Amino acid sequence: MKILSIIGARPQFIKCAPLSRSIRREHKEILVHTGQHYDPELSEIFFKELDISEPDYNLGVGSSSHGEQTGKMLVEIEKILINEKPDLVLVYGDTNSTVAGALAASKLHIKVAHVEAGLRSFDRTMPEEINRVLTDHISDLLFCPTETAVLNLKNEGVTTGVYNVGDVMLDALKYNIKIAEDKAMVLEYLGLSSKEYLVVTVHRASNTDSFKNLSSIVNAFCEADIPVVFPVHPRTEKYLKKYGLWEKLCEKVTVISPLGYLDMLKIMSHARKILTDSGGVQKEAYMLGIPCITMRENTEWVETVEDGWNVLVGADCEKIEDAILNFEGAELKSNIFGTGNSCEIICEILKNISYSR
Ligand code: UD1
Ligand code: UDP
Repeated sequence: MKILSIIGARPQFIKCAPLSRSIRREHKEILVHTGQHYDPELSEIFFKELDISEPDYNLGVGSSSHGEQTGKMLVEIEKILINEKPDLVLVYGDTNSTVAGALAASKLHIKVAHVEAGLRSFDRTMPEEINRVLTDHISDLLFCPTETAVLNLKNEGVTTGVYNVGDVMLDALKYNIKIAEDKAMVLEYLGLSSKEYLVVTVHRASNTDSFKNLSSIVNAFCEADIPVVFPVHPRTEKYLKKYGLWEKLCEKVTVISPLGYLDMLKIMSHARKILTDSGGVQKEAYMLGIPCITMRENTEWVETVEDGWNVLVGADCEKIEDAILNFEGAELKSNIFGTGNSCEIICEILKNISYSR
């Protein structure tokens, strides 16, 4: 079978790495990089570290408004699909690259498989929520990472082609955690001692694009009574500078460039707590058993909150400060994301389905 996989942003490279490896054992895979993320530390480093094959196509769409970015992808992906005639298009997560790939394929009557289907924040102001809902409703195979995701789809009347396969990010983490522990030098490089620092990430539009929210978050980081390390997403750097918050932040916080996956795994796994608005980082904190403080009003990863490992604090400075001091993880964890063999399960399903539409 010929599978065409579409990726374009940092978390998609990480999710694609283990699944692409499994798929290539049995199928022909064509890899398309939309170019949504293009800086070496958001793209190239993951291909190198995770041994992802060189993309067959790089669309180089770059950054622009949602409509322009998604539109450019749609035009270019359609041409490739007409040329390559794959049996199946595989898309990941909830970015503009996801919805562009799914839409281009479904209009050409090519089957679409969505990895990380069924997630909902129920917040339509999030661009990712629009991408998720649209992608799920035009997908033929919906690979859900959790039981909640299956239920969300059921509540929207989507029941055909739905499978709970666990989370491919757990496959990626399990494969790389020992390598990261042995090889990644980030703690030595930054002079950090295990459990004696916080690691933070921020890139969600609702936090970066709002002066009120971003300054509140910066104030909370600057008040922390423990060293804070902040690998900054370029979007966030741009707004921190635009709002005049950059210097203040850099005085109190260790601000660094985005990390590669191995350094990121290492720095997270030794942190006392993690603060984030990232979807992937919330999950990884749970998988690693590190308490997570999520600077959002809602989350798709509700089980992490229900299990007592994640707390939602929004962009409220006092709530963030309080959680830094007082929030501790729970005692026990469960297999909400499966057991780390999602790629195997997905490949088994792919083997047994029919591809005519
Ligand atoms: C995108 C996804 C988001 C995902 C995130 C992962 C959408 C709508 N958003 O957000 O769901 O969580 O990726 O990190 O698809 N930029 C650079 N260099 C790059 C890429 C981006 O400098 O290589 C800057 C540009 O100023 C750009 C901004 O970051 O305008 C935002 O990039 P974009 O890809 O539009 O969205 P993200 O915020 O990265
Ligand atoms: N990540 C990374 N380096 C960083 C920040 C994040 O490798 O400096 C990894 C992180 O471990 C996770 C993924 O990127 O695997 C999450 O991506 P991101 O936060 O950009 O997007 P989201 O998951 O919110 O869509």
